[in-house]
Amino acid sequence: MIYVLSGIKGGSGRSTISEHLTVWLAKDGADVLLVDADEQGTVSDFTAWREHTLEGQVGYTLVQLVGANLRKQVETIKPKYDHIVIDTGGRDTTSQRAALIVADVALIPIQPRSHDVWTLAKLTQMLEEIQASRLAPLRVHSFLNRADITSSDNRDTAEALATMAELGFLPHAIKNRKAYPNAGAKGLTVSEMETPDQKAMAEIDALFTHITHGSLISTTAA
Ligand SMILES: Nc1ncnc2c1ncn2[C@@H]1O[C@H](COP(=O)(O)OP(=O)(O)OP(=O)(O)O)[C@@H](O)[C@H]1O
Ligand SMILES: [Mg+2]
Repeated sequence: MIYVLSGIKGGSGRSTISEHLTVWLAKDGADVLLVDADEQGTVSDFTAWREHTLEGQVGYTLVQLVGANLRKQVETIKPKYDHIVIDTGGRDTTSQRAALIVADVALIPIQPRSHDVWTLAKLTQMLEEIQASRLAPLRVHSFLNRADITSSDNRDTAEALATMAELGFLPHAIKNRKAYPNAGAKGLTVSEMETPDQKAMAEIDALFTHITHGSLISTTAA
């Protein structure tokens, strides 16, 4: 299965979720490829810290691929891996579109903030164009990231997302917790910390279990 972390708002959590999904998928010995399709190189930096912290045992393979060629390169490399996770930059780029064409599932973290919600019309437009140019429909899931622990802001954004069928909203929020940047700074995921944040671990597990085992939510072009 090929997963792409997508979206056109910077800082929504694509890299954080890419790192967690990659490590989560690899936990039972699966061969996982993490594709860094963002020139910023965040998941490459994460992996470099991980190599340092875990003395080389990162548990997955990292490759940097950007531009229109990404599609062909991922198609060629696909048979060697059980899962592929592609991290994209927060803009409508050639790399992000190539990743959305080659992927099976798009995962879209959305922060419950007005500036993020304002990007949703452009995002759905991009996804419509992608769906129209694919042979099989792309499965799309959006979910809240950096959600407030208790706040009506979450509810308003969740309600807005739920009305956009093409964004396949999942009611599994990832909350705003220090555990995420703290783990990321070491090249680790929340469950790998010496004293793991149990709530962070549980919400990650619930989201990924739903995405990997849940019912299929397919969208087609309007
Ligand atoms: N659930 C969370 N709780 C707290 N901090 C978070 C959470 N998710 C991400 N962050 C932090 O928010 C910042 C942005 O996250 P991240 O780099 O994953 O976003 P991005 O969408 O990949 O950004 P970019 O547009 O730069 O690629 C990072 O400092 C990260 O540690
Ligand atoms: Mg990023």
